[in-house]
Amino acid sequence: MPRLAILNSGGDSPGVNAAIEAAVRHASQLGLEILGVERGFAGLAQGHLDRLTLAQVDGIGARGGTVLGTSRDRTVGEAEGRSRILQVISREGIDGLIVLGGDGSIRHGATALAEMGVACVAIPCTIDNDVPGTDRTIGFDTACNKAIALADAIRDTAQALHGRMFLLETLGGSTGFIALAVAEAVHADLVLLPEYPLDLDCGARRMRAAVAEQGYALAVASEGAGDVASMAGYLAEAAGHRMRLTSLGHAQRGGAPTYLDRWLAQRFAATAVEHLQQGGGGGVTVCRGCEVRMASLAEVVAGRKQPDHALYQALNGLTTAP
Ligand code: F6P
Repeated sequence: MPRLAILNSGGDSPGVNAAIEAAVRHASQLGLEILGVERGFAGLAQGHLDRLTLAQVDGIGARGGTVLGTSRDRTVGEAEGRSRILQVISREGIDGLIVLGGDGSIRHGATALAEMGVACVAIPCTIDNDVPGTDRTIGFDTACNKAIALADAIRDTAQALHGRMFLLETLGGSTGFIALAVAEAVHADLVLLPEYPLDLDCGARRMRAAVAEQGYALAVASEGAGDVASMAGYLAEAAGHRMRLTSLGHAQRGGAPTYLDRWLAQRFAATAVEHLQQGGGGGVTVCRGCEVRMASLAEVVAGRKQPDHALYQALNGLTTAP
């Protein structure tokens, strides 16, 4: 029976378990066996893998985190690590490997193994949504929805007691996709992103104007925008109003995946399994609009993805709405 293996690398994201469950279900329908690898590439190099049965994965798709565990390590970046991985792949008779991970895992992990001849398909999984070539990554929607729910709750109290300003700090690493999406969804008065530095005096004027008009101001900042606590302090000083900072932290990365992330997980997993079953080599599953398909690793790695600049400007009042 042809054999696949699946692992999670880098940060986990809501929907990873849904992708694992979907991969096992789809593989079973196609008569393939799937081995689950514990703790990413490091676990693969150490041969920590075992068969995943339908009974084992039944219902895990509803849970956040990853039942396989994950790791941020340099195993696959080092010649010795790669050679141990190749030995395990050959010893276990693995015909194809599915890598659930973000930009770094695709760029440095899946690509390195594919270059060594491993049929390796990456499924973009990260709340950050920073993988080029795909509109969405697994986990982004859930993370955005969590932040949106919190921003809505902050607005409730902001509307009740006038004269305060609020700053919600999202995750996102060095990218601002989550913060921009959340800011748009909640009509934030200001958004701070790592990609497009903003003049804070200009930001403070906008926040002060919002307080004057609606009684409060709400800003969203991505963690990578800088020292967000200091920025909050500066905005408070310059705008002349108290500022309350809420940092979402890792609460944003856990919890049950939304419908959209489960949908994406199922489509990506089915596409990856079918690609490997048909003897396809390395690649990445991507989603453009509602279409899910395979793309080459080279195309994705060469691509560049930036938050929508026109939207960023419009949200900060630098231009009119797009
Ligand atoms: O996986 C991406 C991410 O969640 C980023 O948004 C965040 O900056 C980072 O991981 C946090 O990493 P860690 O869990 O290792 O602290």
